[in-house]
Amino acid sequence: MQELDVVCEQIECAQHPEDIFGVESNKVLVKNIFRQLSKVVHPDRNNGDARANNAFVKLTEYYEGAIKKLTNGTYGDTLSEEQTNVSDSDSFTIQTRKNTYTITKTLAEGDLGVVYGGQIIGSVDDNSYKDLIAVKVVDDSADNDLMQNEIKILQLFKNNPANQLKHLPVLLDRFKTSDGQLGTIMKYIDGYDLYSIREGLRWKYGIDQKHVVWMMNRTLSAIGYAHSQGCVHGNIDPSHIMIRPRDHNAWIIDWCYGALNPAQTGDGFKVLNEEFSAPEVAQKKPPLPASDLYSIGKTMIFALGGDVKTNAMPASVDAALQRFLKFFVLESPRQRAQDAWEMHAMLNDLVVELWGPKKFLEFQI
Ligand SMILES: Nc1ncnc2c1ncn2[C@@H]1O[C@H](COP(=O)(O)OP(=O)(O)O)[C@@H](O)[C@H]1O
Ligand SMILES: [Mg+2]
Repeated sequence: MQELDVVCEQIECAQHPEDIFGVESNKVLVKNIFRQLSKVVHPDRNNGDARANNAFVKLTEYYEGAIKKLTNGTYGDTLSEEQTNVSDSDSFTIQTRKNTYTITKTLAEGDLGVVYGGQIIGSVDDNSYKDLIAVKVVDDSADNDLMQNEIKILQLFKNNPANQLKHLPVLLDRFKTSDGQLGTIMKYIDGYDLYSIREGLRWKYGIDQKHVVWMMNRTLSAIGYAHSQGCVHGNIDPSHIMIRPRDHNAWIIDWCYGALNPAQTGDGFKVLNEEFSAPEVAQKKPPLPASDLYSIGKTMIFALGGDVKTNAMPASVDAALQRFLKFFVLESPRQRAQDAWEMHAMLNDLVVELWGPKKFLEFQI
């Protein structure tokens, strides 16, 4: 994508000044970001291009809004009008401008907070999953910026439809608790993350390679799309890949740590994942698409029952597949696999080479 497209898109997707200037910001930072972005969309530079003009007008409004909010102390507060009481129990109601949601159970404990399960009130229960929701609320409002980051990225995906959206979380709504914690409402994913699958008895020693390859195929496709939108996930691990056995769908979730157009914006890594992060994360280098590929390699080695520290894999894993995965986990980002879609195509070829034309194998957990 051209720089102009990237910047226009960022501005068009924004709903608040914070979406452009970051939740944690100050006047100097806001001014610098404004200066950089306005250079790209300035009418003088773009021969009156309508999209650039509109972006420039919107950017100027957000800039003025940001300065005003920084002056009156409300900067960072994007949702104060929608507040919900989230009790310690796992059944409560959330009211937003858009809808009412009931929460009925706890689905999982994430790194930032609890993920609850529930339903949109008023939806007809026709035994489909379409109206079921997953609600993520941060434990500590200090992490609101990470949640805001996920909202920004999921909105970007929503605004750029592609086949791969079926592998990505769908954001429906958001809210703020009376204690100021940010929450998101997403479509419920009726799948299991890779940790839970490996925790079960069936795949205790590793998932069969003929299943891991389709999981990796979906993952590479989804990540290729995210990369095409300028987004590096930044924290791929087994808890962030969800699998639905019945149709072999897979989702890449938890975009809280994503970096958007890092080369242009300076957006960096936000978390170090001990076993799954590429070496450049600890070295505080800029996020690269190849950093996600490293984490995908490690995650698939884990899925196969391998050792993520040494990259050793069970002997039952075909040597060619082992070689392919080792290309993902090379320490040097320049030497390792670079392009998710290219790797997706290579994996397809490898699978056909190893096992002949593809066929659907039932996956049970
Ligand atoms: N949309 C969803 N539907 C069903 N379960 C989900 C959904 N999103 C997350 N989960 C579950 O919650 C866990 C934590 O989610 P995650 O987005 O990683 O939260 P955190 O940012 O707190 O780590 C996931 O590993 C998964 O098991
Ligand atoms: Mg997580």
